[in-house]
Amino acid sequence: MLLTTKELFQKCYGRYAIPAVNVFFMEEIHGLFAAAQKAKAPFIVQTTPFARDYAHPDMLLSMIGAAARIYPETVFAIHMDHGYEAHLFDAIEKGGYTSVMIDASHDPFDQNVARTRAVVEKAHAKNISVEAELGVLAGVEDDLTVDAAHSFYTNPQEVEDFVNATGCDSLAIAVGTSHGAYKFSGGQGLRLNILKEIQQRLPGFPLVLHGGSNVSSEVVQRINNAGGNLKTDAKGVQEDEILRAIPLGICKINIATDTRLLWTMVNREFFRDKPDEFAPTSPGKIFMEEYQQFMLKKFELFGCVGKAEDFK
Ligand code: 13P
Ligand code: G3H
Ligand code: NA
Ligand code: ZN
Repeated sequence: MLLTTKELFQKCYGRYAIPAVNVFFMEEIHGLFAAAQKAKAPFIVQTTPFARDYAHPDMLLSMIGAAARIYPETVFAIHMDHGYEAHLFDAIEKGGYTSVMIDASHDPFDQNVARTRAVVEKAHAKNISVEAELGVLAGVEDDLTVDAAHSFYTNPQEVEDFVNATGCDSLAIAVGTSHGAYKFSGGQGLRLNILKEIQQRLPGFPLVLHGGSNVSSEVVQRINNAGGNLKTDAKGVQEDEILRAIPLGICKINIATDTRLLWTMVNREFFRDKPDEFAPTSPGKIFMEEYQQFMLKKFELFGCVGKAEDFK
């Protein structure tokens, strides 16, 4: 069942969070939908402009459409992650997405409002939900790099004005996470005090956490043991931080790095252990299974196992 993110957030607010997972290729889509059907968990499948340029927008949406038929019990939204106008207007025009994100967070406040408002008008005319962002995350997001000096937390004093002026349906905030494998390099974790202040100013309004990967040190270690060279001080969002963020209005948690690390681990280990093999389907099968197990754990942690029933 294809829903908007607005519909998903109306049910989950304050109770559980919905994982929003970035997909690039077929095996991820199978793993995601299979896990969600098994767990009866709602989810958000999302694509960045980078993913659309890589695979082609039609390819991604066709695979997601096929997955919806192969796993008919699933409850989900299709979201454009970190969009900018060229991709967003194309996606809104051609259809397929039930939710889009306009990321104008790098612009000054007024410009962010104006760009977001323009997307909201076009998207709402087609019943598409809009996520906007206020505050800038550090890290690497596909082809965009933001260093820590140019990142900043969301200012809680601005959030009401921003939401009222834009008409957005959910708000991505910067409360200490960053994109990519190297989060929290300064050792700080999630700024729950800032999140709490934001929620008090926007009671009931869905908030979005970007940079939600856990960056398992076990996975990083296994990658390095199989020939990888990742920094071992990599650390992501901890389980207890997730649990404390959900009652504070975090409805959507974005995950990309964790599944990319998983792909790297499976493939490095496979080709290390089976140097005579060259069939992509062999590590592909292992990856789909590992992906499913990974997602089942996320659904469990985020509290959304069985919650697909909320929407039937
Ligand atoms: P991670 O890098 O933590 O996976 O964050 C992904 C994200 O926010 C995608 O928009
Ligand atoms: O937003 C989606 C990107 O794929 C995120 O990339 O995992 O490096 O943050 P990342
Ligand atoms: Na997004
Ligand atoms: Zn993001």
